[in-house]
Amino acid sequence: MLILGIETSCDETSVSIVEEGKKVLANTVTSSVKQHSKYGGIVPEIAARFHVEYIACVLSETLNRAKASLKDIRAIAVTSGPGLIGSLLIGVSFAKALGMSLNKPLIGVNHLRAHLYSPFLDKSSNMPFPFVGLVVSGGHTILTKVENFKMYKLLGKTLDDACGEAFDKVARILNLSYPGGPIIDKLSKTGDPNKIKFPRAIFKDSLNFSFSGLKTAVLYYVRDNLKKIKSKAQSSKLKAQIADIAASFQEAILDCLVENSIKCCIKEKIFNLVVGGGVIANSRLKYKLVEKTEENNIKLFLPDVEYCMDNAAMVAGLAFNVYNNSVGKKNIFSLIPDSNLGIS
Ligand code: KG4
Ligand code: ZN
Repeated sequence: MLILGIETSCDETSVSIVEEGKKVLANTVTSSVKQHSKYGGIVPEIAARFHVEYIACVLSETLNRAKASLKDIRAIAVTSGPGLIGSLLIGVSFAKALGMSLNKPLIGVNHLRAHLYSPFLDKSSNMPFPFVGLVVSGGHTILTKVENFKMYKLLGKTLDDACGEAFDKVARILNLSYPGGPIIDKLSKTGDPNKIKFPRAIFKDSLNFSFSGLKTAVLYYVRDNLKKIKSKAQSSKLKAQIADIAASFQEAILDCLVENSIKCCIKEKIFNLVVGGGVIANSRLKYKLVEKTEENNIKLFLPDVEYCMDNAAMVAGLAFNVYNNSVGKKNIFSLIPDSNLGIS
């Protein structure tokens, strides 16, 4: 069974065709990220206009790559939230029009749940219910307990910035470009992660996250120690200092993610950890997750790097399972999330 997935929740315009929820026949992703970079963050209007311009040609490119035609598709899946409302509306309207004209069922998919499906694309393993899910992206940071395809319980979330957002904002403080996550990841490899002891917000009585204090600590450190950070010709000493700050910040933020995830598995007595979202592409995070899960006998499910960032394959893959488990197999669509947990 082939499902066509559509993802337009933020700056990526993506269409994918996935067979039996597993085999990715094609996953086309294009992004307006370059157009946002001069503003240091996403401009929703630019993102929405980009989707309008590109979605039809991303669809035809995907059909070509998969060597499929629209009549081969069983159902259409689309990200229905959470995300930027203008961007979501383009994908949802496009999917609805396609579904109506082809008389195919439409499946609305939650973006965060879709990220947790990404480790199972192009793999033989299935979702290991029950499991603890960690989603770390540019807009969200959550820990959730997942019992089955319908039952997600929120166990922890960020109280302020999302993790990817903190990477992007710290990159801006360090005069690096947008998006900051991949740049800090690369730069940190040349820096000392133990050079500066930045604060780690770990709560005794909750599994929540908080990154704004860490971000402010980096801001004050730069203000007090790196006067010439904005100068064009940076000395090699200054470059080394910036790499040390990047590495020390990265170590602090990743410690919070890893420590809370392990704490959550132990508290819930669930020894399967599934992770997803753009920040999971971080090489040091993967290393730390592998190390700490092995130490605690927890089975870790990591996505391939191409499925960490926003993509439509994870939407189509999850939709296949939702569709297969639904009675009647008609339209399964809810634009308004049915709870305020951010994981509906
Ligand atoms: O999941 P995603 O593609 O979009 C959202 O749903 O938000 O995540 C994008 C976020 C950005 O904040 C970006 O800086 C971050 O993921 N990111 C990374 C890395 N690659 C992307 N953060 C840390 N290290 C990386 N290698
Ligand atoms: Zn995402």
